[in-house]
Amino acid sequence: MKIDFDRGYADEPYVGLVADFPDSSVYPLESFRVEWGPVFHRGRLDGTARVLVIGQDPATHEAFTRRILVGEAGQRFQGFLTKLGIDSSYVFINTFLYSVYGQSGGEHHVNDAAIADYRHRWIDAIVASGQIEAIITLGHLADSAYQQWRQTPSGATSTAAYATVLHPTYPDSASRSGTITKAQAFAKLCASWNTALQALHSLVTADAARPLVLYGSTITKDEHSVIPAADLPAGLPDWMRSLDAWAARSGADAQTKRATLMVTVPKASRTWPIIN
Ligand code: URA
Repeated sequence: MKIDFDRGYADEPYVGLVADFPDSSVYPLESFRVEWGPVFHRGRLDGTARVLVIGQDPATHEAFTRRILVGEAGQRFQGFLTKLGIDSSYVFINTFLYSVYGQSGGEHHVNDAAIADYRHRWIDAIVASGQIEAIITLGHLADSAYQQWRQTPSGATSTAAYATVLHPTYPDSASRSGTITKAQAFAKLCASWNTALQALHSLVTADAARPLVLYGSTITKDEHSVIPAADLPAGLPDWMRSLDAWAARSGADAQTKRATLMVTVPKASRTWPIIN
């Protein structure tokens, strides 16, 4: 049985980018979980990507897979790409290399020059292929990151179509604030994603052309997509890219919680024999 995998950072400029990345002198420890290491990207770095997606920051699952947007948020947006007909010709980067700690961490640092400079080097490397037809940002911090890049010499010349959408976890975060129900927040998310799908569907060259099917008022289980094995390092178990959640922060107090990530094999993947 052959399983495809991501060969990693074999070529320049990516070799140089991952060998020399901003540390806690750039990403302050009060605002970023630098202790879990940077997570750089997911998808094609070989010049075949036609869609660049900019997310926000890595979360729990990404700390283990070392590729971004693989948990619930990633699977929701992978489903969006499926609707667009983009099954493999994409690349994701995040606004931040490290997981944001605290509500305002990201807001305070999105414009920091050293954070932005390194991010611009990634965007420049990706668009240098000349193949990127669309750039999509997830949430307002990623939109700020894109707008900053547009003010750089290479960003100013970009002809890629642009869409910004609500972040895939918007329904979860917005409903926690109590001002909107989760169902209402999902309906808003779907409306935002439908607008982008309608704008981009005819502009982007699909890997697999399929008729555009818009979202209803929520994202159904079938509208999530499993993360392709080709996006992840070799040897990761299948359940690390399944639709079941398997990583969570754990601890009775803030310090323990920051220090502890718990991994649990999902029930559906416990295929070992039960021996009493
Ligand atoms: N995980 C990521 O890597 N980025 C996001 O924006 C959300 C979850």
